[in-house]
Amino acid sequence: MQKVIVIGQGYVGLPVAVRAAEAGFEVIGFDVNVGRVKGLAAGESFIGDISNERLGAVLEGGRYRPSADPADLAGFDVAVISVPTPLREGIPDLSYIESAAATVAPHVTAGCTVILESTTYPGSTEELVAPALEAASGMTAGVEFHLGYSPERIDPGNEVWTFERTPKVVSGVSQASLVAVQGFFDQLVDTTVPVSSPKEAELTKLLENTFRHVNIALVNELAMFANDLGIDVWEAIDAASTKPFGYMRFTPGPGVGGHCLPIDPSYLSWRVKQSLGQSFRFVELANDVNEHMPDYVVSRLIAALNDRELSVKGRRVLLLGLAYKKNTGDARESPSAVIASQLLALGAEVRAVDPHVQDAQVPVGVTRVELIADEVSSADAVLVLVDHDEFDLDLVRSQATYVLDTRNIVKPADNVDRL
Ligand SMILES: NC(=O)c1ccc[n+]([C@@H]2O[C@H](COP(=O)([O-])OP(=O)(O)OC[C@H]3O[C@@H](n4cnc5c(N)ncnc54)[C@H](O)[C@@H]3O)[C@@H](O)[C@H]2O)c1
Repeated sequence: MQKVIVIGQGYVGLPVAVRAAEAGFEVIGFDVNVGRVKGLAAGESFIGDISNERLGAVLEGGRYRPSADPADLAGFDVAVISVPTPLREGIPDLSYIESAAATVAPHVTAGCTVILESTTYPGSTEELVAPALEAASGMTAGVEFHLGYSPERIDPGNEVWTFERTPKVVSGVSQASLVAVQGFFDQLVDTTVPVSSPKEAELTKLLENTFRHVNIALVNELAMFANDLGIDVWEAIDAASTKPFGYMRFTPGPGVGGHCLPIDPSYLSWRVKQSLGQSFRFVELANDVNEHMPDYVVSRLIAALNDRELSVKGRRVLLLGLAYKKNTGDARESPSAVIASQLLALGAEVRAVDPHVQDAQVPVGVTRVELIADEVSSADAVLVLVDHDEFDLDLVRSQATYVLDTRNIVKPADNVDRL
């Protein structure tokens, strides 16, 4: 049985590890976070897309073992690296990839395959990971061992386009490496899409995320102008979406969050600036518009309270949704946190409902509550920030004094404004 090691057991690494175990590999899910490893070993998944039942089945079957001990990595056939790639003051921080490569390097043997999955700028696999593995092993990537890049396309909460169903782009530093990387993923997903080198695969991921980032910024800016012009932007978006070709629906919101959109496009613009000395203007503009959205939401709320001769200070505001996205518990880079901190700074009492996020993700100063009639009616304003399916929107509409709906999910009423 082939041994697979997955470095990083987060939103990306855990689904890959579980899927590989289900496909018949012997899998070590390696993570430096001992608490996470213990939780996983106890059968507790922290990701909505991986149920405790699914995790329990691969644990009990003996195919999946979480570990924080690098000694468990010895003798691997395939290593997948899925560690964070954050920005530090606007600059890509590849230290996690460097450290993961250093952990894998002593265990590289002839014929093994190493695959980078973390989102990163074009060139990282060949310029960063290959030299680290080659120096430690004394072998040449693409010749004596295999190396490639395959971006993750996971869409948390998406029940249709699951990990298995979503086509996976694969690449290698040589033809032999491409064959090895593709051969591995062909056993995990329905369709693989080979490209000619890791750089194209790295750029593919950044193109996909930049495309979304830019289009969300476009509708966000349009929403702000349409409001000032007295035009219903949501109706225009619905109408435009009936065009069967040449248009793709994106909807406005309180800003972008998660580990991808607020970060990945900046990896690309950083690379363009660093290598070519030029600005990637679309990315900069999209960052500017999307980062401004929480300010805009707060300014709309201030204006609405002002109409009722109320100041924000001392008012109770109920936030619906702390996650960055519908039906997920991922609150990383969530615009809700920015909005909450701005309202707290203005002296509001901020309460929030979110059935998905863990307590640790509730921003400091915010009181977590349930969505019940008393909570809704006692708030001076309700801000709908996430379109979780669980929210009882009829209750919100019937009990709230005032609602600002940034997702267009509450039915129209006199007490409801939309973004
Ligand atoms: N979350 C998504 O939806 C998504 C989608 C596509 C791509 N990505 C990309 O995938 C990568 C991972 O993202 P994520 O969301 O899974 O992050 P995450 O924070 O959920 O998980 C990363 C895990 O790696 C662990 N880790 C950090 N350094 C390590 C090391 N040296 N050795 C072993 N483990 C280490 C952390 O403890 C953590 O558990 C990022 O590059 C991200 O941009 C994320």
